[in-house]
Amino acid sequence: MKSRSEALVIVANRLPVERPDAATPWKKSSGGLVSALVPVQQAKAGTWIGWGGTADEELAPFRVEGMSLQPVALSRSEIERYYEGFANATLWPLYHDVTGEAIFDRGWWESYVLVNRRFAKAAAQAAPRGGTVWVHDYQLQLVPAMLRKARPDVRIGWFDHIPFPGYEIYSRLPWREQIVKGLLGADLLGFQRRDDAANFLRAARRCAGVVTRGSMADYRGRPIRVGAFPISVDAKELVRLARDCGTLDRAAQIRTELGDPEVVLLGVDRLDYTKGIINRLRAYAELLEEGTVAPPRTVLIQVASPSRERVREYQLLRDELETLVGRINGDYSSVGHPAIHYLHQSFPKEEMAAMYLAADVMLVTPLKDGMNLVAKEYVACRHDEAGTLVLSEFAGAADDLKQAILVNPWDIDGMKTAIRQALDQPSKVGRRTMRAMRSHVFTEDVHHWAAAFLGALQLTTDPDDA
Ligand code: G6P
Repeated sequence: MKSRSEALVIVANRLPVERPDAATPWKKSSGGLVSALVPVQQAKAGTWIGWGGTADEELAPFRVEGMSLQPVALSRSEIERYYEGFANATLWPLYHDVTGEAIFDRGWWESYVLVNRRFAKAAAQAAPRGGTVWVHDYQLQLVPAMLRKARPDVRIGWFDHIPFPGYEIYSRLPWREQIVKGLLGADLLGFQRRDDAANFLRAARRCAGVVTRGSMADYRGRPIRVGAFPISVDAKELVRLARDCGTLDRAAQIRTELGDPEVVLLGVDRLDYTKGIINRLRAYAELLEEGTVAPPRTVLIQVASPSRERVREYQLLRDELETLVGRINGDYSSVGHPAIHYLHQSFPKEEMAAMYLAADVMLVTPLKDGMNLVAKEYVACRHDEAGTLVLSEFAGAADDLKQAILVNPWDIDGMKTAIRQALDQPSKVGRRTMRAMRSHVFTEDVHHWAAAFLGALQLTTDPDDA
């Protein structure tokens, strides 16, 4: 066996840095993935390949906070066809089982192939001999096979941050075979839930004639490991933030600003149709109607951070959501006391930690979600062991946070019952369940996730011996 390089190349649609405009300096993006992978990448002297977030921007490789970054440029038309089109108006709805919305456009597919080729080429150039490349998410599913063709000496891992759909849904995709074969270029394919891995293995058998045994797939004589690696948050960093005096003061201030209610409920989501915000608010409206909850004693804060605003479905959802919030507030608010505090904004992590601490009940009720890190962030921040989590059984987090109050977000009566249960839960029971969930989030944090994935990748067959 030849000696292998330690170096790790990360390939993701976005770079781990952002800036509002070219005049502002780059800043590390917040989020668990970035905080988990950046130290690993730095320790292994690797590089991160991704898009800088602006159209037609050709940037030379650069460094920010010790990270080595290699930008991939996307033209305006590629953003429309590859990113907003194929990734977010074809794959995103299909992979979240929203079949009616998925658009199958051949031009978008061509752009997806082209852009994936660009990322694969950049990775092939960046990876040292015998190095490791970790590719991320649904935007880059063709990269593993393209990279393997160019660089058979590197180890390739791919991780799916979103769900992988059942074959009945996946098989509608006109390019189902190409995508499966694109993924089969990897040595290790990681998914959030065991069900996602099983769905992929079935698609691989059906589309590529792969023979599978347990978590192993055999593709043209090459073994590929397929498994579940549930992602998590940087729990220690979150709790450090949540214990900070500034955060504690801000949490108290939020409650004062709300008029010192007895109960604060909170929803925090990207404004996305998979997040189940409409169903959640319908359930809440019925609870207001029947008087179970009433402002100013009970208030709901709904943060809906702006996302993919040029994609039509997101624009339609915003209109629908804001009409609904307006109607509910019109019906149930009084002067100075809105029933719902709706915030179409993104907040820094310090403010999010303060909101989590201020919230008695956290509502995480997506219709379908790969993991949902908001649920884990809430749990990590609650060092006081107070707070109750209502969690959709269709979020990957439900596999890990089993002690939460689990709901089917399609069942409005069930959601009302779950919210009532959260409001009535004796604090002793709440503390016990929160303690159990915190123990899980602190043991299996994002560092554990990255180490488990990279450890499993290093155990795959050495490409030189394959
Ligand atoms: C999800 C995806 C990520 C994506 C993020 C934000 O979490 O799994 O790959 O980066 O949404 O979406 P955006 O389209 O803004 O990158």
